[in-house]
Amino acid sequence: MRNILVTGGAGFIGSNFVRLVLAQQPDCLIVNVDKLTYAGNLENLEGFLDNPTHVFVKADINDGKIIEQLIDKYKIETIINFAAESHVDRSISEPKVFIETNVTGTLTLLEAARDKKIQKFVQISTDEVYGELGETGKFTEQTPLSPNSPYSASKTSADLLVRAFGHTFGLNYNITRCSNNYGPYQFPEKMIPLMINNALNDKPLPVYGDGLNVRDWIHVEDHCQAIWKVLVEGKPSEIYNIGSSNEKTNLEVVKTILDAVGKPHSLITFVKDRPGHDRRYAIDSSKINSQLGWKAKTNFAQGIKSTIDWYLQNKKWLANVTSGNYQQYYQQMYGNR
Ligand SMILES: NC(=O)c1ccc[n+]([C@@H]2O[C@H](COP(=O)([O-])OP(=O)(O)OC[C@H]3O[C@@H](n4cnc5c(N)ncnc54)[C@H](O)[C@@H]3O)[C@@H](O)[C@H]2O)c1
Repeated sequence: MRNILVTGGAGFIGSNFVRLVLAQQPDCLIVNVDKLTYAGNLENLEGFLDNPTHVFVKADINDGKIIEQLIDKYKIETIINFAAESHVDRSISEPKVFIETNVTGTLTLLEAARDKKIQKFVQISTDEVYGELGETGKFTEQTPLSPNSPYSASKTSADLLVRAFGHTFGLNYNITRCSNNYGPYQFPEKMIPLMINNALNDKPLPVYGDGLNVRDWIHVEDHCQAIWKVLVEGKPSEIYNIGSSNEKTNLEVVKTILDAVGKPHSLITFVKDRPGHDRRYAIDSSKINSQLGWKAKTNFAQGIKSTIDWYLQNKKWLANVTSGNYQQYYQQMYGNR
C-alpha cells in the first residue's frame, strides 16, 4: 500500500486524508491528482505541498493518458478516488459536469486501474446513494440504492461501475459510504462553513425549508482514519458504511454555531427549500465497527467547537477561497441575504 494515487486531494476530505497519511505513514508516497476546480485549493495543502513523499499533479481524472503515465512513473499500487463534483445544489442547476467527473471520470480511473493491474481501488462514495429515511431506521450496506439528486445519482452510477469492474475484470475494490463531514478546509458553500462564515460577517444564515432536515455528522478526521483502515484491511469487493451516530437537525447545528461565536439567533433566515430535499439521513456503521475495528472518536460538541475555532483562526483562508466567483454563486443561491 506504499505508493498511492489519490484523486481530488486538494479538496476538503482529500486534503485532510493526504495530511493524515503523510503524518502517520512516513513510508507512503502520495501522488495527488486534482483538477483544481472552484472546490480544489492549493492552500488546502499548506505545510506539505513540497513534502518529498507528496507529488501534486494538476490534471483531470478524465485524462486517462496522464493517469496511466503517473501509475507507471510512480509505481502506483493503489488508487483512492475522492475527486468529484460534490455539491447537491450545483447538481440541480448544472448536472452535466457531475456525470463528466463523477461517472465518466471514475470510469477512466477504473480502466487505468484494470489495465495497469492496480492492487486495490477505493471509491469514496456517500450515504446519499441510499436516498432518504423517514423518522426511524438507518442505512445499512443492504439498503437498496435510491438516489434522489443528480449528485447522488452520479455517485450511485460510479459505485455500480466500480462493482462491475470487480465482477467482470476481477478488480480488487472497496467502496466507502460516509455521512455528512465537517472539519477544517471545507469550502464555504457547504452548510457548516457557510453558516460559520456568515455568522462571522453578521450576515443572515439561510436555512432551507423548516430547518428540520436531519443529517448524521462525522468529523473529517474520523472519516479519513476509516478510509485508511479500509485501504489496508478492507476485504475484497466489500462496501463499508462510515458514520458517527450524530444526528442533528440543520436548525440545531445553526443554533450551535451562533451560540459558539456569540451571535444572535435572529440571524437565522428561512429560505425556500431545496427541490427534492432529502429529509433524513442516518448511517449504521456496525459492519466497519465489528469487522475492521474502526469507531469514530470525535463527539459532535468537541468537533464542532474545534472546527469553529479553526475557521476563526484561518480567516485568511476563508477570504482567499471565497474571493473568485463565490460572491456571484452566493448571490445566485440566496439573493442579497
Ligand atoms: N463532504 C461530504 O460530506 C461527503 C460525504 C460523503 C462522501 N463524500 C465524497 O467524498 C469525496 C470528496 O468530497 P469533498 O467534500 O472533499 O469534495 P470537494 O468538492 O471539497 O473536493 C473535490 C475535489 O475534487 C477535485 N475535482 C473535481 N473534479 C475533478 C476532475 N474532473 N479531475 C480531478 N479532480 C477533480 C476538485 O478540484 C476538488 O479538489 C467526494 O467523492 C464526495 O462525493 C463527501
